[in-house]
Amino acid sequence: MTLCLQLCALLLLPFISFLMPTHAAAEDAAEPVCIQCHSKMPEKYSLPVKLWRGSIHAENGIACNGCHGGDPKDAANAMNPARGFLGAPKESAIPAFCGRCHVGVMKDYLASAHGRKLGVGGPTCVTCHGNHQVMKASLELINEKSCSRCHSFERARVIRDTMQETEKTIVAIDGRIGAYKMIGTDIEKLEKDLFAVRNRFHTLFHDVNVELVKNESAQIQADLQKTQVALAALDTTQQNRKIAGAVAVAFLLLLALVIHLFKKTFT
Ligand code: HEC
Ligand code: HEC
Ligand code: HEC
Ligand code: HEC
Ligand code: HEC
Repeated sequence: MTLCLQLCALLLLPFISFLMPTHAAAEDAAEPVCIQCHSKMPEKYSLPVKLWRGSIHAENGIACNGCHGGDPKDAANAMNPARGFLGAPKESAIPAFCGRCHVGVMKDYLASAHGRKLGVGGPTCVTCHGNHQVMKASLELINEKSCSRCHSFERARVIRDTMQETEKTIVAIDGRIGAYKMIGTDIEKLEKDLFAVRNRFHTLFHDVNVELVKNESAQIQADLQKTQVALAALDTTQQNRKIAGAVAVAFLLLLALVIHLFKKTFT
């Protein structure tokens, strides 16, 4: 029996090892040639691959050619400008480079105090987000270490504190909507409202305008207040339902008792 198994394994081995490299080769072919070649190059040219692997772009299938252009399937012509290769952008070209995909953000940025100082001391997208290891954005990017590289943190702090306040409310409402969804309550409308408000909220930052953040935040807080009122109404309905349920159960118990006593008395 054991011998038979060993024999079978021996017989199958060539097939298995025959299948393995084919599989690996198929995987390699799916990976852009940019990564295959650059991974084997000196630090300066291979570091981008390492950094990119942990990025939100890698997670969403945006590879080297997504940003730099070029042909990800043809090693010989990968970096041919005729195949759309853009090279590495100069500092002043970075916003347009990223802005091919992030159109709305680029527009806000270009009109901002930062965009107006592009090339003369203003930050570009990569100053705050990095170039290859771009992560999911959050308000944590607004911190003293990063923002006081060029000016005082004072105005940045006002923006951060104001936005954090709203973010807290959004997270709290999101949690409550999640809890109602878990018990099967239909709250699609509230969910949609919150989604829209959240999107509007996350377009605020790149203007780096303290007044705008304050005014818009007041508006957004007012909209969130409406959702909170609707949730409170749901809470009351839920409470009433529970009370009604308890009353019904108490009534049934009482009825059972009466029937029991009735039976005892007359049988
Ligand atoms: C066969 C190897 C090979 C392949 C394939 C390859 N590269 Fe390169 N890449 C290089 C070498 C070598 C350099 C440095 C010398 C140079 O700039 O030509 C380089 C440089 C670069 C630079 C820096 C250019 C600059 O101006 O400093 C970028 C960006 C780049 N490659 C992106 C890509 C992208 C995107 C792809 C895929 C579409 C790709 N590479 C495919 C070998 C390769
Ligand atoms: C999100 C967009 C984006 C992606 C994706 C991306 N890059 Fe880049 N890359 C940039 C930017 C922007 C620069 C310019 C560097 C700077 O100023 O920070 C750059 C610069 C480079 C350079 C020049 C580095 C130097 O020191 O001169 C190389 C090489 C490079 N990238 C290779 C790659 C490779 C290989 C990949 C895929 C693993 C890749 N990049 C993916 C945005 C990107
Ligand atoms: C080829 C299109 C493309 C280019 C070019 C590009 N991105 Fe992205 N980026 C995406 C996609 C797709 C996502 C993931 C989906 C999303 O969150 O929008 C993303 C996500 C992001 C996020 C996270 C967004 C979030 O929701 O938190 C940031 C920050 C970002 N990119 C910055 C940059 C920067 C900086 C550059 C230039 C160096 C750049 N991107 C270039 C397509 C692109
Ligand atoms: C001064 C720093 C700074 C600069 C410059 C900057 N960003 Fe951002 N970015 C942030 C911060 C902070 C957030 C998070 C804002 C939030 O959570 O509402 C963010 C959020 C984002 C997001 C996510 C937006 C969303 O809807 O959630 C994207 C995409 C993005 N940035 C891309 C870019 C691009 C592209 C550029 C250049 C045109 C750029 N950023 C320039 C700091 C910066
Ligand atoms: C690379 C340098 C640089 C970095 C890093 C930087 N800024 Fe700025 N910032 C500028 C310049 C230049 C101006 C325009 C001149 C000024 O008002 O000081 C500016 C202006 C501002 C303003 C004033 C806008 C106005 O008109 O009232 C705010 C707010 C601001 N930045 C916020 C931030 C925040 C938040 C960060 C960090 C996420 C940041 N900055 C990081 C260079 C930078």
